[in-house]
Amino acid sequence: MSLKNKILEFFNKKAKVTTLGGQKAIDKQYAMGKMTARDRIKELLDPDSFHEYDLFVVHHSKDFDMEKKELHADGVITGTGTIAGKPVCIFAQDFTVAGGSLGLMHARKITKVMDHAIKFGIPLIGINDSGGARIQEGVNSLAGYGEIFYRNTIASGVIPQISVILGPCAGGAVYSPALTDFVFVVDKISKMFITGPEVIKTVLGEEISMEDLGGARVQTEITGNAHFFAHTELECFDQIRNLMSYIPSNNNVKADHTAVKQPKSVVAIDKIIPAEPSKPYDMRHIIKAIFDDSNFFEIQENWAANIVIGFARLNGETVGIVGNQPLVLAGVLDVDSSDKAARFIRYCDAYSIPLVTLVDLPGYLPGIDQEHAGVIRHGAKILYSYSEATVPKVTVILRKAYGGGYIAMCSRHLGADFVFAWPTAEIAVMGPEGAANIIFRSEIANSPNPELTRKLKVQEYSEKFANPYVAAANGHIDAVINPGETRDYLIHVLKNSQNKTELRPTKKHGIPPF
Ligand code: HXC
Repeated sequence: MSLKNKILEFFNKKAKVTTLGGQKAIDKQYAMGKMTARDRIKELLDPDSFHEYDLFVVHHSKDFDMEKKELHADGVITGTGTIAGKPVCIFAQDFTVAGGSLGLMHARKITKVMDHAIKFGIPLIGINDSGGARIQEGVNSLAGYGEIFYRNTIASGVIPQISVILGPCAGGAVYSPALTDFVFVVDKISKMFITGPEVIKTVLGEEISMEDLGGARVQTEITGNAHFFAHTELECFDQIRNLMSYIPSNNNVKADHTAVKQPKSVVAIDKIIPAEPSKPYDMRHIIKAIFDDSNFFEIQENWAANIVIGFARLNGETVGIVGNQPLVLAGVLDVDSSDKAARFIRYCDAYSIPLVTLVDLPGYLPGIDQEHAGVIRHGAKILYSYSEATVPKVTVILRKAYGGGYIAMCSRHLGADFVFAWPTAEIAVMGPEGAANIIFRSEIANSPNPELTRKLKVQEYSEKFANPYVAAANGHIDAVINPGETRDYLIHVLKNSQNKTELRPTKKHGIPPF
């Protein structure tokens, strides 16, 4: 065959394979409000940056007439490209080919691109849109999943792993996203579940829609399995690009420095906290008043909202923020908020992102529900993560820091490098009301005017302990600062701690209270 004909043959073969699962299946995909795998890669990555590999891979399955089925690219598109000029590895499952189901060769394409990502220190983005294990391939499909989960685990803490759920993600398939760092979902498109509605109906006799079982809202508001909710696929891609701008490409490099922009918040920082200690306010207003350009990239915004976590920049450098949210349950720590914060702290530590903790909480949430849900085990995770983290850790106590909550929110005792307190800080074993009721119980009961005595005792306790000066006198905090000085102090100490090293005893790994 002449060179010209060989090239012609190549173009014909390529054109055929890149038609995905055919026009009918593509039309069905669009009718469901979904893009195709190729559209998605094109929209997410920098223009013309995608380089595809393994386009001509074919499945080897012979059962159930499979040898007659030509599954283009075996239902998954893989390759490399760039986002904002930085390399990424990517795979996108193609629902138009056998429902994006995962057979052995489909899995091998994914594991190949994962191996590239790990070797080259490049973030991995996986777009999931699949009916799960390819039923016709039996145990080979399961083997494929196992090989993906193994690599997800090996890559954890080495390269960022981002999962985008843009269709069904059913059965054991959900465990790959669950092992990755960030999961993105889109309203009415994403569906994640272990057992689908049909199995639930058969086994339990209950009827439930896929949306109510594991739709985007369920996964971002109830379960916390997903981190980012978007209304459209395009909005989701914007969120991914935004996230990528904050994080480093691997655990050996730093996140990009960006131009410094002053906060543009219009409300003066010292006007945000209400005078009455029990009145709520939005911690995000404080964050916006402190950090560059008043930008806060919040993670898991709609789940365990009593704690806020996310990235911001301080003097152009990425920092991770953990802050109690007085607007929700007074900002208490509970099972979910402890899980949420603990995982984020470990993310920041793995990628050398300094941690800033903003404290205002009355403690751990009391109650039978929490005790029975394991608040001891879950609450311990936040203690473990802060103690384990060796990145620069700076804490600012804004208002309440009571009891276990004071210790847990990156106190000096868990290894904070710097702890600052505003003059409004109240650092005590518990709130003045509760404390006075316990320690002056008989004095109050036996007094001629118990109500007045109680009031006076609460006042006495507040003056003695509900302030930052006892902690300051003991060196548990480093400085009482004016709220308006917070940004300056944070910039100063984070600059000083840039070369922080903190050695720990040699061990294989710790045993966190998972
Ligand atoms: C092979 C599959 C498939 C699968 C879908 N298809 N899922 N083929 N294996 N797992 C095929 C369909 O036969 C169909 O092929 C095409 O994909 C489109 O599927 P539809 O059912 O027509 O689409 P839709 O109505 O949109 O429904 C999508 C769906 C449904 C909800 C995902 O297909 C479904 O319930 N699939 C099974 C989901 C599931 O239970 N997976 C778990 C498998 S077990 P044609 O040729 O007709 O177009 C598992 C365990 C892994 O994953 C364990 C790892 C640890």
